[in-house]
Order: sequence, then C-alpha cells, then structure tokens
Amino acid sequence: MLDGRIRCKTLNQKIMTAEKAAELIKDGMTVGASGFTPAGYPKAVPLALAQRAGDGEDIKITLITGASVGDELDGALTRSGVIARRYPYQTNASMRDAINNGSIKYSDMHLSHVPQWIKYGFFGKIDVVIVEAIGITENGGIIPSTSIGNSNVLVEMADMVIVELNTSQPVTLEGIHDIYSLDNPPNRKAIPIFKPDDRIGTTYIPCNPEKIKAIVYTDIIDKTRDVTLIDDDSRKISNHIIKFLYDEKTAGRIPEKLLPLQSGVGSVANAILGGLCECDFKNLTIYSEVLQDSVLDLIDAGKVDFASATSLTISPSRLDDFYRNFGKYRDKIILRPQEISNNPEVIRRLGVIAMNTAIEFDIYGNVNSTNIGGTRMMNGIGGSGDFTRNGYISIFTTVSTAKDGKISSIVPFVRHVDHTEHDVQVVVTEQGLADLRGLNPSERADLIIENCVHPDFKNQLREYVERAIRTSKFVHTPHDFETVFLEFSDD
Ligand code: COA
Repeated sequence: MLDGRIRCKTLNQKIMTAEKAAELIKDGMTVGASGFTPAGYPKAVPLALAQRAGDGEDIKITLITGASVGDELDGALTRSGVIARRYPYQTNASMRDAINNGSIKYSDMHLSHVPQWIKYGFFGKIDVVIVEAIGITENGGIIPSTSIGNSNVLVEMADMVIVELNTSQPVTLEGIHDIYSLDNPPNRKAIPIFKPDDRIGTTYIPCNPEKIKAIVYTDIIDKTRDVTLIDDDSRKISNHIIKFLYDEKTAGRIPEKLLPLQSGVGSVANAILGGLCECDFKNLTIYSEVLQDSVLDLIDAGKVDFASATSLTISPSRLDDFYRNFGKYRDKIILRPQEISNNPEVIRRLGVIAMNTAIEFDIYGNVNSTNIGGTRMMNGIGGSGDFTRNGYISIFTTVSTAKDGKISSIVPFVRHVDHTEHDVQVVVTEQGLADLRGLNPSERADLIIENCVHPDFKNQLREYVERAIRTSKFVHTPHDFETVFLEFSDD
C-alpha cells in the first residue's frame, strides 16, 4: 500500500495481514499496547489474536497499556481467555467481570508509575508492543494517533514492535505530539516544562526501524463513548466548583486566569469543564491526562488558550466535526507521554487544580474511587492519584446518593481507600462543597455532613459521629468499629 504513510521505504516490506502479525505473539509473552481512555489503541492485531484463541489455541499473555482501551483489545481478548494479567487501568465490562471473578489478575496502579516500572524492569521483559499510528517517519519514528500513553516507553523497551497504521485517523494529527523520555535515576534530569504549551521533544516516537517486525493496515475507528447529557446534579456540582474558584480568586489564592486545570473522566467531569463556558473566566489552560468534548467547547467559546494531555477522546457524534475543523484546534492542543502528562514534578510545578470523581468519600475526607462496596473493582485509580497528591488544590466530586437514592455516597469510613484524608482538600456533591483545608478530623466531619450529605442521611451520620465519640477511647478520629460498615451498606 503506497499511500505516503510509511516514509521509511525499507519498511514497506514489513506490511502484512493482522493474522500474520499476531503470530509474533506467543503464549506467556508480556505484550504492551498503545491506547488511553479509549483512544489510539490497536484493534486489528488483538482481534486476530482473539481469533487464534477462539480457534482453540491455548495462549495467555500479560497486557500493559497506557490506560483503558476499546473492546477490540480488552473485551475480545478477555472473552477469548487470552489475558492472564493486566496493568494498569481498564473500563471494559467483560474484563471487569473477569477481574472480579479472579480469572484475570489485575494490578491497579497510579498511571505515572507505569512508565518507570517498565523502564526499571519491575514488570520483567516486554516482548512485543503493538502501537496504533498515523504514519512512520523517514528514520522509523512512529507517529501516534489519538493517544500516546506509554507507547514511547514500551517501544523503547520492547524486543519487537508491531505498528497498526490506522487510515481512519487523519494524517493531519501529525505535529500535535511531543515525545520526551526520562532517564532512570540517578541520571534523571528536571523536565523543562514551565507552561502547559511548552514543547520539549519530538513529534514522533523514536524507533530503530529494525525493531519494527510488522506493519498492519486497518481502518477500524476508535470506540470512544458518547458523554451523557449534563443533568441537574452535575450542573449543581459544576456551579459549586465555579463559585469556589471565584472565591479563591477573590481571596488572591489563584490568579485571574486560574491555574492549569485537570479534570477526570466521565460525564460529571465533562459537565464541570462545560460549566466554565458560561462563566467569566478566560485565557484558561488545561494540564490533564484526557481531553474530552468539553475542552473543544471551551476552545470554541474562546475560554481555553491551550490544552495538554496524553489522550484525545472525542465522542463519536463529535468526531467528524472535530476532524473537519481540526485547523481550529491544532495549535491549541498537545499530546504528551503519560510519563510527562501525569508527572508529579510537572503537576506540582504548574500548580494544577485537580478535579476527580469519587465512588464514595467518608466524613473525614478519605476517598474510594475504585471499588464498589469495597470489594468490586469498577475501573481503577487511573491518574486521579497523580493529580490529587500533587495538585495545587485537589477536589473530589460525587452525587450524594447512589442506587436511586437508596445509599449515601458519604459514609463513616470508605470501604476501600484510594486517596487519603491527607491528599483530599475539597469535596463536592450536588448538595454543596466542603473546603477541608486546615481542618481537624472532627471539624471535617461536621462540615461534610452539613454541606455535602443528602438530607435523607444527615441524621444517621450525625448520630454515627456522636456514637463514635461516646464509644471511642480517643476522639481525634472517632470511629465506632461495631457499626462503621453496617449502617450505609446497600445489602
Ligand atoms: N455505592 C455503590 N455503588 C455506587 C456508588 C456508591 N456510593 N457510587 C456509584 N456507584 C455505582 C453506580 O451505581 C454505577 O453502577 P452501575 O455501573 O451498576 O450503574 C457505577 O458505580 C458507576 O457510577 P457512575 O456514577 O456511573 O460513575 P462515573 O461514570 O461518574 O465514574 C468513577 C465514577 C469513580 C467510577 C470514575 O470516575 C473512575 O473510574 N474514576 C477513577 C479513575 C479516575 O479518576 N481517572 C481520572 C483521572 S484523569
């Protein structure tokens, strides 16, 4: 196929079918893949691999990606029993079931840790990496598509590289990437990013062409998700946060154009950023891991000057329009490796305002964002910990009740801890916002119950605190461990 996407001519001889390329992957291998929330992940080769297992071959692999990927990778390989181990984040229904029934061993990790674990050798040898790309440069450099994630590090460390050239991804994406790799300690240098729009690397992933063992053409599109319409609760949460940001600005604690914003995944996160379209803030910047539709709205509304992330996950209904008008966005967007987008050093230097979603939080400010009921894995911690721990201000949001109002999302003690009271500064529900900075645990409990808990659950939680104070020997963080998990359970 001579369409100009492979500029390193010697590599034309590596073009083959997905089935042939999948034969490079053998039982017991550790396989890396591009892809992040779910954008820019390989599709054709994973489907061919799943087919081999479907045809009866016994094959098991360890799979490492940037973050969540689409059903052609996580779903198809799970259903065909190919995945034995999975790192570091997923959102796939089949895989979630397999993790929770024990057939896939899943290790949920901070996304910023993954690239350095790969380079430190903590995962063992990386046998092969499959990278979705829009092209290959004259010197073998791989031009990624809609995400970078860990692709650069996986390409650097893997024995073999398979490139999926996806013709559904436009070549006009070339130029939005900024690839920069870190040395391992003790040789690691400071990362020279001082503003979200600083460019420090190359527009392609450097790769020795000899490492590229297969090139597969495909046109299967990214299966991104449509964001649901902004509902009343999300709008209220968004309004509470915007008022808080105004107050911070008035108090002189953040500048006029705020500080770079990070917003998590999902509809509430999308609504929060969307709410900024209707307020007076302008010349905003984003330093995040994912750019969703709301960032395009903010650029369209002239509110955002620049947005940096590692993945561009535009909903299916918006994608055509995005590509048609790409010229409007290309100078305002940069995609970086997750080693850089989620790097604690950069997040802390820039003073990122971190906004992430909780499944539940407790009266002292600990947050559970991963395990329903404390034991059922939902997705994973993703980058929420990277941004929460290192942000200038760290905010968590959730709707105050779940399961049609039957259970409170604010509980005496979270049944699984992802973010501790030491990292979480502000919690918000549709009921209101609690600014926890500087408060001791009992002050936090009072404020959270007053401002964030749904009226149906306020009295139960107040009674819990009173009982905990009565029965605890020590009252700094009072708990009644006889009843701590009983009262607000959904069974
Ligand atoms: N108790 C029991 N179940 C609860 C619950 C609670 N307090 N809160 C939510 N749930 C259930 C919902 O009912 C829903 O169940 P269902 O799938 O059976 O319908 C499920 O959890 C997801 O809830 P939903 O409100 O749809 O979640 P969301 O789309 O807003 O996502 C997270 C919320 C926390 C799961 C998601 O943000 C996440 O995975 N976060 C971790 C990673 C992260 O923050 N990454 C971003 C960093 S940039």
